Amino acid sequence: MNLYDRIPNNVNLSEDKKLQRALEKWLPNYLDWWREMGPEGFQDKDVWLRTAVDVGSEGWAHFDYVKMPDYRWGIFLEPPKPDTKVGFGDNYGRPAYQEVPGEFRNSLRRIIVTQGDTEPASVEQQRQLGKTCPSLYDLRNLFQVNVEEGRHLWAMVYLLHGYFGRDGRDEADALLERRSGNPDKPRILEAFNQPCDDWLNFFAFTMFTDRDGKYQLSALAESGFEPLARTCQFMLTEEAHHMFVGDTGLGRVVRRTAQLMKEGDVRELGGIPLEIIQKYINFWFSYSLDLFGGEISSNSADFFAAGLKGRFQEQKQYTEHTAANEIFTMQVVEDNQLKPREVPMRNALNEVLRGEYVKDCEKGLARWNKILAEAGLSERLYLPNPRFHRHVGEYAGHTFDLHGNLITREEFEKRKSEWLPAMEDREYVRSLMHPVTEMGKIANWIAPPAAGIKGKPFDFEYVRLG
Ligand SMILES: [Fe+2]
Ligand SMILES: [Fe+2]
Repeated sequence: MNLYDRIPNNVNLSEDKKLQRALEKWLPNYLDWWREMGPEGFQDKDVWLRTAVDVGSEGWAHFDYVKMPDYRWGIFLEPPKPDTKVGFGDNYGRPAYQEVPGEFRNSLRRIIVTQGDTEPASVEQQRQLGKTCPSLYDLRNLFQVNVEEGRHLWAMVYLLHGYFGRDGRDEADALLERRSGNPDKPRILEAFNQPCDDWLNFFAFTMFTDRDGKYQLSALAESGFEPLARTCQFMLTEEAHHMFVGDTGLGRVVRRTAQLMKEGDVRELGGIPLEIIQKYINFWFSYSLDLFGGEISSNSADFFAAGLKGRFQEQKQYTEHTAANEIFTMQVVEDNQLKPREVPMRNALNEVLRGEYVKDCEKGLARWNKILAEAGLSERLYLPNPRFHRHVGEYAGHTFDLHGNLITREEFEKRKSEWLPAMEDREYVRSLMHPVTEMGKIANWIAPPAAGIKGKPFDFEYVRLG
């Protein structure tokens, strides 16, 4: 572990002078991007952050006050295991690839660039949120997520520089040039061009969109291209905290709303009504489902066959690793009707991964509904049908209601404001967003967390604003 190198790393960077020089050239451009597009207004504040100092599952993180531009971004891969094999597909059981297989060079580069692009995009989407934080605890969590997304960008840039030569370097530069929501140079995926300008958006984003990241990274962590697998394995340990922030954040909003529902009118009392929370769930869940790609995909079949992108927990969950003779049945739209279609399993792997994701999201919903039940309320939150409000894949171009029934476009347009956040919902939520920065205090629309971070109390000075 070379923690105090200019670029902290555990890949013996100092032994590869060419790569080290290339990354040291990229470093100042990254810092310029961070200063321009990172959290606005807090760059000189001390934030109580965790920094990766090891990659073992125990004790890999060190907590201390850091100014964000001084955060030790670095390159950390899970240590190599001896004799790693390709774990699935046509090359199952052969030695893992240490270099990019030539015929998959372009598609693998695209996977890495697309993953890499999401990391700085989310930092850009969230850069104004600090100014309206509901508490110092939440402010610190936002910044923790932001610096780690910055580190994930480093992880992908290491792969591009280290394994893709000249075009990898060009792609690494382009990752700092695109901007979330910019019509001329947008980020690659649409969920990452949506505004995330209030804290309800932030919690829904970290719950649903970061969770897509978990499933993409899990599938890549199975990869037979070993450097990619080891990179993703370590990113997943950091990603868990982002989903914790979203899951518990929404849970705390639900808890507060439930309290206010028993006291009177939630709006009059300055809370967020359940129907608005539901609309935010509908919005971010549906956009996040798009990130898995088309239901029927020849790319997914090719990547699996090549041993590059596996299934969720390929080694743990499956005993048969070729998926060559299986069939998957899914609903598709034909002659304006939903009909079942049988698809070779390998072509349905995006949909299989999406199914794992939906199951995971349902657990979050169950936790929030438990809060409602314990408050003695009969209302419940739910996930919309996965066909609802889709922009990618089989269901894009058709319109569905929340239950997944095909409806006309006119009907969808007529009812859209019941299902998705309308301008007035967004304005109402924004009107509640006033910063609360006194130690131990919390905004009126959200409940405090059950515990602080790393054994510290809720009223700890997580960010020094003075
Ligand atoms: Fe990330
Ligand atoms: Fe994340």
